Amino acid sequence: MNLGIIGYGNRANYFVGRFFDAKRGVKLTAVADLDLDRARKRMENNRFFKQYDINIDDIHFYTDFHEMMQKEDLDGVLICTKCHQHSQNAAEAMAYGIPVFLEKPVSVTREQLKILQDGYFAHPVPTMVSFPLRYAPICRFVKKLIDDGTIGKVQQVQALNNVPYGPSYFRGFDMGFDLNGGLWPQKATHDLDYVNYLIGEEPVEICAMEAKTVFIGDHDPSLRCENCPERDTCPEGPLQQAMDWAEDDDGGFCAFSNNKNGHDSASALVRYASGIHAVYSQNFYSRKGAQKRGAVIIGYRGTIQFDFYSDQVQVWMHDGRPSATYQFHNNGKPHFGGDQAMAHNFIDIMEGKPSLAPLETGMLSALMCISAMESCSSHTFVPIRRDDWKGPEGKGCPE
Ligand SMILES: NC(=O)c1ccc[n+]([C@@H]2O[C@H](COP(=O)([O-])OP(=O)(O)OC[C@H]3O[C@@H](n4cnc5c(N)ncnc54)[C@H](O)[C@@H]3O)[C@@H](O)[C@H]2O)c1
Repeated sequence: MNLGIIGYGNRANYFVGRFFDAKRGVKLTAVADLDLDRARKRMENNRFFKQYDINIDDIHFYTDFHEMMQKEDLDGVLICTKCHQHSQNAAEAMAYGIPVFLEKPVSVTREQLKILQDGYFAHPVPTMVSFPLRYAPICRFVKKLIDDGTIGKVQQVQALNNVPYGPSYFRGFDMGFDLNGGLWPQKATHDLDYVNYLIGEEPVEICAMEAKTVFIGDHDPSLRCENCPERDTCPEGPLQQAMDWAEDDDGGFCAFSNNKNGHDSASALVRYASGIHAVYSQNFYSRKGAQKRGAVIIGYRGTIQFDFYSDQVQVWMHDGRPSATYQFHNNGKPHFGGDQAMAHNFIDIMEGKPSLAPLETGMLSALMCISAMESCSSHTFVPIRRDDWKGPEGKGCPE
């Protein structure tokens, strides 16, 4: 099977290893990137190329992805460009009629959602959105418990994401929040998607709140630790990190700058079609053992609690049935085993089988993130209306 990649950055260079690991005959045939020297360098330093004896000279390189799509006989294409480019790139790539793997977030504005929707309606190719949490074995197990009726109908979901590596989001001089939309589309898009997946209902409205109260300060965002007079006393500076937390951090740009973009904590409330609701909260200064990513799912007959980090599912029955704990063993694997499962599903899709995360899932989650941002500004509930991005036939984006 011949694979092409549009945008050969960090993510693509890592993810291509998942296809090699899958050992299902996928060949990296062609790559399109604006900086081909950097793309080649990434491949040279990628241990999977050595491990699987991939000859970089056999790969065809392009700077224009349209030329790649026209000249190559590809079975599928990965779109791993920057967030704000995804919708336009995908809409254009779909015109070539082959399966598309699209990185998240699929869109960061309503205008981009419309471009993506129009592109898809014009060329409805098989699609997959890069949502590793939905694919992680632990999440699919919880979905099966729910679908089997273990706790009865889901009545409420309480989801949490306390990110143990949060400061890294504030240490880049140009975090590009104006382009990538910030931490709603960066982070919450994953969690809101798996909550949608588990609940299996249409979200109808959202309200959200966000704050930036920790990673704030007076410094210019271009200040680096090495040039900062506070470098030895700053809690995010390399010395304090090494002495207090035994963390290896070489500094970087200032985490306490006057860059007002984004948030370091945020929460959303989502109502679903049957009237049930979910709450989701994310935090970027919680660390170490306080890390948590998962949810409590409550029905009348029982409660399921799961956490990606501890890789554990607990089921408490509210009636006389016994409770149970299930320990998974995927925590060491990238995205809790979700990345490998995604590579397999994309190979399935190229073979004509269904997608577990079709474009609709990415568009819905993106719409929820955009609506959450609007709610943060307007201090109101925002309806999640797919009519806003329905095509001329009046349908939502089909699965
Ligand atoms: N699903 C996940 O869990 C996950 C994890 C990490 C990153 N991501 C997403 O992956 C995407 C890429 O992230 P990254 O860290 O690899 O970024 P990156 O900047 O390293 O890579 C982007 C690449 O796209 C190339 N590019 C830009 N415009 C192009 C064009 N018109 N044609 C071809 N190539 C073009 C750039 O030269 C660059 O090499 C981001 O949207 C990010 O949110 C997703």
